[in-house]
Amino acid sequence: MSELTFEGVSVRFGGRRHGLTAVDGVDLTVPGGSVVGLVGESGSGKSTLARAAVGLAPLHAGRILLDGEPVRRGRRSRPALQMVFQDPYSSLDPRMTIGDSIAEATPRRGPARRAEVTRLLDLVGLGADRARAYPGQLSGGQCQRVALARALAGDPRVLIADEITSALDVSIQGAVLNLVREVQRELRLSLLFISHDLAVVRYVSDFIAVMYLGRIVEYGPAEAVLTDPSHPYTRELLAAVSEPVSTGEADPALRAVADVEPADPHAPPPGCRFHPRCPVGPAVLDGRDLCRESEPVPQGHRHLAACHFAAGR
Ligand SMILES: Nc1ncnc2c1ncn2[C@@H]1O[C@H](COP(=O)(O)OP(=O)(O)OP(=O)(O)O)[C@@H](O)[C@H]1O
Ligand code: SF4
Ligand SMILES: [Mg+2]
Repeated sequence: MSELTFEGVSVRFGGRRHGLTAVDGVDLTVPGGSVVGLVGESGSGKSTLARAAVGLAPLHAGRILLDGEPVRRGRRSRPALQMVFQDPYSSLDPRMTIGDSIAEATPRRGPARRAEVTRLLDLVGLGADRARAYPGQLSGGQCQRVALARALAGDPRVLIADEITSALDVSIQGAVLNLVREVQRELRLSLLFISHDLAVVRYVSDFIAVMYLGRIVEYGPAEAVLTDPSHPYTRELLAAVSEPVSTGEADPALRAVADVEPADPHAPPPGCRFHPRCPVGPAVLDGRDLCRESEPVPQGHRHLAACHFAAGR
């Protein structure tokens, strides 16, 4: 089992004047054999963090380690760390059969290759006869299974799954989630599971990390984060999950911040980045000037939160 570690990772896009820091000093560990769910709203930097791990986004600062060693880019690093993306069709070549697509990703050669393709198809719940099909003949869910088989072809130790069910029909999302969780357990993979949807993340995760505007604002065992969230932003995400239909009688504090524009990542607010929207921050409560003045650092033991007034502090 392998551990994936992000140490002070920052990713910047664009120049010094008009650029933005999409990921800003992230420390995060995916312990060996466990699932870390990474959740946060659109634009918070989840995909950028993942892409940095596989060399698709430039590291501005920090290190990304696999069992204490820097993740190597290029061909040799492929098997150890693999990523599955959101759009199952675009990750497969439409002119290649499923079998060829998977075969291409395995390091095996000769007759062993065909057996390996069958094994991988079976692992993701597809029959061997699917090997002759083209992506256009498969459903989105089946394509995503093939993308998973391809990612597993090099026997990775760590898998990153970025919104892998978001493009799928709701009716098949559960089956794909179950499959990912089964495969993760069976192969004892370490999995960084990314979704903007906390309902999806809570279903698969051992640990949950919450990201807001490029930073991790809360991290802890899934159970603790879900039942006893420390950060106001996490509480907001949870409230959105448990109350899918608005009753029109929202907490007055929540209503007070509901109209605030999402923060501009080119110019994050000073102090706590969440302060203009925070339902218990300076926009709502007196005596919380600290939130505007100083940026909270993650604190806690196993369960961390970056908030000056985190629950229990
Ligand atoms: N190649 C790029 N060039 C410039 N800006 C980028 C690039 N990729 C991402 N960004 C910006 O970085 C920020 C983080 O984007 P990212 O895609 O990582 O967010 P996300 O959390 O994955 O969002 P979503 O839930 O929509 O997938 C956004 O402001 C985005 O516009
Ligand atoms: S530091 Fe202040 S503004 Fe930020 S989350 Fe905590 S209470 Fe809200
Ligand atoms: Mg994304």
